[in-house]
Amino acid sequence: MATLVGILVSLFALEVALEIGTQTSESHPSLSWELNGQRQTGSIVIDSNWRWLHDSGTTNCYDGNEWSSDLCPDPEKCSQNCYLEGADYSGTYGISSSGNSLQLGFVTKGSYSTNIGSRVYLLKDENTYATFKLKNKEFTFTADVSNLPCGLNGALYFVAMPADGGKSKYPLAKPGAKYGMGYCDAQCPHDMKFINGEANILDWKPSSNDENAGAGRYGTCCTEMDIWEANSQATAYTVHACSKNARCEGTECGDDDGRYNGICDKDGCDFNSWRWGNKTFFGPNLIVDSSKPVTVVTQFIGDPLTEIRRIYVQGGKVIQNSFTNISGVASVDSITDAFCNENKVATGDTNDFKAKGGMSGFSKALDTEVVLVLSLWDDHTANMLWLDSTYPTDSSALGASRGPCAITSGEPKDVESASANASVKFSDIKFGAIDSTY
Ligand SMILES: *[C@@H]1O[C@H](CO)[C@@H](O)[C@H](O)[C@H]1NC(C)=O
Ligand SMILES: *[C@@H]1O[C@H](CO)[C@@H](O)[C@H](O)[C@H]1NC(C)=O
Ligand SMILES: *[C@@H]1O[C@H](CO)[C@@H](O)[C@H](O)[C@H]1NC(C)=O
Repeated sequence: MATLVGILVSLFALEVALEIGTQTSESHPSLSWELNGQRQTGSIVIDSNWRWLHDSGTTNCYDGNEWSSDLCPDPEKCSQNCYLEGADYSGTYGISSSGNSLQLGFVTKGSYSTNIGSRVYLLKDENTYATFKLKNKEFTFTADVSNLPCGLNGALYFVAMPADGGKSKYPLAKPGAKYGMGYCDAQCPHDMKFINGEANILDWKPSSNDENAGAGRYGTCCTEMDIWEANSQATAYTVHACSKNARCEGTECGDDDGRYNGICDKDGCDFNSWRWGNKTFFGPNLIVDSSKPVTVVTQFIGDPLTEIRRIYVQGGKVIQNSFTNISGVASVDSITDAFCNENKVATGDTNDFKAKGGMSGFSKALDTEVVLVLSLWDDHTANMLWLDSTYPTDSSALGASRGPCAITSGEPKDVESASANASVKFSDIKFGAIDSTY
């Protein structure tokens, strides 16, 4: 009986799952990296949101920023009718890899479309993301952000997304990690076309300023550790805990005025040298010289986690992180509870970091393994001013100045035309014991 039910369930699942297209075979660019000193032959996969989504022929299920009402009359039918296509990584998306190095291009003019930015995940094998347990470990990589102007963000971070892309838990998500499914982050993004394999078509609103994106009823929330958000002008590393990792609806998503009522700490606690008082530390030809590749070391101290440290290595020289130098914050060079609590008071920012459990809450959240994300993006919401400029733009409060970029910089339409050729390079990824990877 149980077997019969099992068979019926899987037949049903088979019938309604999102399917895999056969126009382009999926061939993941390889990327080698080091785990505990051992070379790993990994690869990367582009997120499902960037992929062509069409019916059993070549008719679009999603075009520009709108869903086909014929093919997607309801979420289940949409998953049933639609096929997620394989990716031409270099031709369509401007992504190339060689050995231990990965380059993401910004604007790529393909034969059918113009692609803007990308988001990729590290795979352990064809069908499974590589996963990391960060506590008491060290993560190191080399970033080249010399070709990233104001307004762009070459990001490397971890999120608590499922290792199989959600496939085992949600039969609708059949393409799984092999097709880059299952993304979530601490902003609880509403722009995901599929969440738990279900099309996010309900209440879908095409974006007013992004011809490729929109927002559906559901968001998808999970804990996020931003190791590196950067361009040539500014950089930050940031902790964002969520009280759970789940699809959200309504208040849980923490949208708009309810920003602090959701399940994630959207503001996070960040360390940005410029923001915390050192304007001569990171940038072109500065102490950490962003006109050249720089090796970035991040240490997760303790279990439970109590501190997240940063060290840079460049030109064979180890460069200790800058110390904070603003009034109201003790001079420190790492993220701890004390630093976060002091900087929230000094800036007058809401302390959602503490409200969501502080370091111990984040430490608990990191019991869940996390997946490595590498991306290049421009910002249709805030022009990346929160990273590299003054934000809020009319504020002179402590902490409002985050980098040297003009408050008028970073408009997507401007950067997409003026800096179409921008790109970021990530290489030499290493993970292991503290002080073993640099
Ligand atoms: C910035 O950091 C450098 C290197 O750590 C240090 O020598 C310098 O004094 C710092 N400047 C400020 C304003 O804190
Ligand atoms: C803080 O900045 C001042 C100059 O603005 C500098 O003299 C001092 O060395 C800095 N302190 C630290 C700890 O970097
Ligand atoms: C981008 O690169 C291409 C090829 O290298 C070149 O032809 C084009 O002029 C460049 N565009 C810009 C805006 O720099």
